[in-house]
Amino acid sequence: MASLAQSETDFSALPELSEDIFTAPLKRPDHLGLDWVEPAQADYGAEDDAIWDELFARQLGVLPGRAASAFMEGLDKLDLARGGVPDFGRLSEELDALTGWSVVPVPMLIPDHVFFWHLANRRFPAGNFIRTRETFDYIQEPDVFHDVFGHVPMLTDPVFADYMQEYGRAGWKAMRYNRLKALGALYWYTVEFGLIEEANGIKAYGAGILSGPTEAKFAVEAQSPNRIMLNVDRVMRTDYVISDLQPTYFVIESFEDLFRQTVERDFDRLYRSLAPAFTYANSAVIDVDNVVHRGTQEYLLRGGRGSGAPAV
Ligand SMILES: [Fe+2]
Repeated sequence: MASLAQSETDFSALPELSEDIFTAPLKRPDHLGLDWVEPAQADYGAEDDAIWDELFARQLGVLPGRAASAFMEGLDKLDLARGGVPDFGRLSEELDALTGWSVVPVPMLIPDHVFFWHLANRRFPAGNFIRTRETFDYIQEPDVFHDVFGHVPMLTDPVFADYMQEYGRAGWKAMRYNRLKALGALYWYTVEFGLIEEANGIKAYGAGILSGPTEAKFAVEAQSPNRIMLNVDRVMRTDYVISDLQPTYFVIESFEDLFRQTVERDFDRLYRSLAPAFTYANSAVIDVDNVVHRGTQEYLLRGGRGSGAPAV
């Protein structure tokens, strides 16, 4: 069976990044080591904890019936409702006992190769700050609420936890072919904006959907977006929107199916055949698609974010 990662790659220490790999240059703050992990979690005050609690309560008003059961169970398993920004030490202990993962605090942005390396070692890098009241509804940079509330509950699911580790290992292969954009699209349409078929309908498991106030309803119920069964080759050729609701969501049958589709793919062959730019627009429906719902794209056609177009 083909593997995502080259078996000779050793992830016990941060592997050397060769010069012919093109990544965004980020200046490492002086107080951080090569792993970019902060020496300690930020000291959150009462106002920060209040913001966390309000965000948490708002999401709990929207997510039951729309979030994947694995996510809702993960919230319970980690007792994330106990109030205030969670302590990463306690969270990591509980997560380690469940699936061997931990959570480490990092600055807002870290380099791709460091991010992949942490995932390959079952460490989830989480933003070391929380949004303010001014950015309560929408922030582009992932803060601790997005990272911990949105991502960490899914890491309690054993199969999804394995997928995330494989994704990190796959990152190093994508870098060797300079196809990070394509692998980024896979992350976007699964880890951030993925949907899953459950016995009682389509639910959301992507952190970008689960950590925001609007997108859960839009992704799961609205007529506007396309919902298409996941095909890894197709997704890795598809453009995506960073600052607005998605015109298209991809649906998986199960986390086992997602893991299998990804691990069994011959990525060397795929990367050799991929163009550097995306082939498909983010709203496209193409011949090979297994379409669950063909969207009207009403939201997009009315102008999207900033136009006043209703999401649902
Ligand atoms: Fe995220």
